[in-house]
Amino acid sequence: MDINWEELKDLAISAMEQAYCPYSGFPVGAAGLTTDGHTYSGCNVENAGYGVTLCAECGMVSQMVRSGGGRLAAVVAVNGNCEPVAPCGRCRQLIFEHGGNDCLVLMPEGVMTMKQVLPGAFGPHDLTEVAAARFTED
Ligand code: THU
Repeated sequence: MDINWEELKDLAISAMEQAYCPYSGFPVGAAGLTTDGHTYSGCNVENAGYGVTLCAECGMVSQMVRSGGGRLAAVVAVNGNCEPVAPCGRCRQLIFEHGGNDCLVLMPEGVMTMKQVLPGAFGPHDLTEVAAARFTED
């Protein structure tokens, strides 16, 4: 699949410009491209209860699922300087759920696969394998 990283990054930048981050002053925007060519975006939304903060990737995934879902093929998140930012651990888990090992992520170091970004990920396969094993035991 041909990925236009500049276009995806521009979408992340426009999302970043809407960030609500009065506590950290660290705006983030995320954009995702699905395997069927749709794009989605999100920004971080902070809260006076700091731990309640929603990351930009969370908003992006939420918009994708709300719009009918899909599989993520490529993701980029940017900081307030419009530079790629590494997704936090929780967001890597979110991206993995909806994109799997082959989803590409534009990291500060360059393009990486989710397999590189979150090696040995826990995911849906762990649940189904254990459930199947338990079923055959009964
Ligand atoms: N943040 C994101 O939105 N995504 C990430 O992957 C890393 C961190 C946000 C959360 C918080 O609002 C701010 O960046 C500082 O941590």
